[in-house]
Amino acid sequence: MESREQPEIRFEIRLSDHPLPDAERTQVMAEPGFGSVFTDHMATLRWTDERGWHDGRLEPYGPITLDPASSVLHYGQEIFEGLKAYAQDDGEVRTFRPYANAARLNRSAQRMAMPALPEQAFVDAIDTLLAHDRAWVPTAPDMALYIRPFIIATQRGLGVNRPSDSYLFTVIASPVGGYFTGGVRPVTVWLSREYTRAAPGGTGEAKCGGNYAAAFAGQEEAVRNDCDQVVWLDSAEHRWVEEMGGMNLFFVYGSGAEARIVTPALTGTLLPGVTRDSLLQLGPDLGIPASEGRVSVDEWQEGCASGEITEVFACGTAAVITPVGAVKSHAGNWVIGDGTPGPVTMRLREELVDIQYGRRPDPYGWMHKAS
Ligand code: COI
Repeated sequence: MESREQPEIRFEIRLSDHPLPDAERTQVMAEPGFGSVFTDHMATLRWTDERGWHDGRLEPYGPITLDPASSVLHYGQEIFEGLKAYAQDDGEVRTFRPYANAARLNRSAQRMAMPALPEQAFVDAIDTLLAHDRAWVPTAPDMALYIRPFIIATQRGLGVNRPSDSYLFTVIASPVGGYFTGGVRPVTVWLSREYTRAAPGGTGEAKCGGNYAAAFAGQEEAVRNDCDQVVWLDSAEHRWVEEMGGMNLFFVYGSGAEARIVTPALTGTLLPGVTRDSLLQLGPDLGIPASEGRVSVDEWQEGCASGEITEVFACGTAAVITPVGAVKSHAGNWVIGDGTPGPVTMRLREELVDIQYGRRPDPYGWMHKAS
């Protein structure tokens, strides 16, 4: 759907009359886990055919009332984003590349026949939420405020001959520690043969809820095989590595001054991760050539056996950079390097998080001052 010219969208402020008291907030923020504790407010914005985006509000966090026949509940017309806000040493709060997330939301919207949201409205909604829930941005090491913007189809009716004629955009936020329990530890991954995540022409490159719903069976299979995460292969040959559940993958070839990183190319079936894109820029500036390519399961296994592939890591907003230590599959199991976090993985991780927390200069202009 085309984006239309819209006047600047303002958010009416309706503050919660029962924000969590300071002492309780401090307590829940001490060990929040991932995505289970939420701040006092949420930002919302509605869309109709006649009015475009309207009724911007900051309101108390709480249940959304929906007609049981709302199309999102039946046909899954939903898209979302994930980004983080970081408390900086200079006392500011900054988000990482929010305009990149805004642009991706609109690419997802196009695939899912939903209305585009002006990028500035996306960023303003987040900034408004952060201005009021700033106390929820963790200052403890390695913690951040995970921001989850999403759009759902709200039209009442069960017809499937056209997309919804009304939508609700909402931003919620959650203080988080690591996505995986146990700090930065190598994860074990399962190569799924039974299931595929995406096929050409499908919704693989859109960040829509359905992609994640369809992935749970593969993730359960991974857990049954004592793995942390499922790795998705291409749908036609089950041969080419695509991505992990909710994260992109990088392969490190060589070591020391010879090390280079390769990530599966965006063929239309992979999610174009913002962290992935950032590492493709950051790597070369650190003297680590980075490229997009094709990596087969055989090349992964043989490369680890010969020592050509020295490290593998996953990356994403939630996962940051997470080392992959071992692979399990119907075809066999193998260890990557010596199974411990490798130096290239940890170097890239440190450089990236230092920019995110404002501990290093940001030559890319990635950080956005939120409040
Ligand atoms: C993110 O990293 O923001 C993701 O989308 C992963 C997630 C579904 C938890």
